[in-house]
Amino acid sequence: MTTTERTGADRLAVVTGASGTLGSKLAESLLSRGWHVELWSRSQNDAIKRLTEDHPDTARWGEVDVTDHGSVTRAVRAIPRSARLELLINNAGALNQGLFTMEPPATSEQMIQVNLVGALHASKACARVMLGRGGSIVNISSINAVRGHRGVASYSAAKAGLHGLTASLARELGADGIRVNTIVPGYFESDLSSRVTPENLQRITRRTPLGRLGTPEDVVSAVEYLISPGADFVTGQCLTIDGGLTC
Ligand SMILES: NC(=O)c1ccc[n+]([C@@H]2O[C@H](COP(=O)([O-])OP(=O)(O)OC[C@H]3O[C@@H](n4cnc5c(N)ncnc54)[C@H](OP(=O)(O)O)[C@@H]3O)[C@@H](O)[C@H]2O)c1
Repeated sequence: MTTTERTGADRLAVVTGASGTLGSKLAESLLSRGWHVELWSRSQNDAIKRLTEDHPDTARWGEVDVTDHGSVTRAVRAIPRSARLELLINNAGALNQGLFTMEPPATSEQMIQVNLVGALHASKACARVMLGRGGSIVNISSINAVRGHRGVASYSAAKAGLHGLTASLARELGADGIRVNTIVPGYFESDLSSRVTPENLQRITRRTPLGRLGTPEDVVSAVEYLISPGADFVTGQCLTIDGGLTC
């Protein structure tokens, strides 16, 4: 640990897709460490209600569609001026599985919109606030960005875009003290991954050197590292959390 560690009392984070499996766990981790958290999602589900009830002073829900630039900029403008926005986690995502040649063009476009354009909008709006005072952006990608798999071409293309965004933004924003990194998770159980068949889950487990499937907590731990003082000199990196599946 370096001496730059702060108590977290006045630090604000934005978590996109906070109503989802990973997003709600990321938010919970931050809130338990004293962060204030803006929970962005299109719907206010039980996870959002629980987070805002358990942390009435520090958790706030915002109805935000990350694919809509106006929705994102309005949400950033609604952040109180007194708050110190230090972290954006681009976690919102959606997955359509199906053969590429059969996928309706609108679905392909939606995959790019949610998984890539949403991160562009949120990063731009939040980085503008962080300019000159520092901060951190963490993108949530997928191993589909780096290994080919049938039936996820549009999703994979969008996630791969996050890797290019990470490297370029890290260069552009480094002088302003803004670090940009990406977590590249393998499979973990959630609504998004619920269509993976038991046979495929067995195959993933068999091929994973560490011999098990991932969990949201594995990903949360990696994000905790990336935003810790120990990672103060880490930027422009893509950190894979998959038990060695892609090594
Ligand atoms: N599960 C896995 O195996 C796995 C593996 C690798 C990477 N990932 C990535 O991990 C991240 C979290 O996924 P998850 O598994 O936790 O999925 P999840 O439970 O389905 O959560 C996805 C979240 O994204 C939000 N979202 C979708 N479209 C949105 C939009 N237009 N604007 C704002 N929010 C939107 C959803 O909330 P609303 O519908 O309420 O908006 C939901 O909260 C995603 O980026 C995913 O690609 C997951």
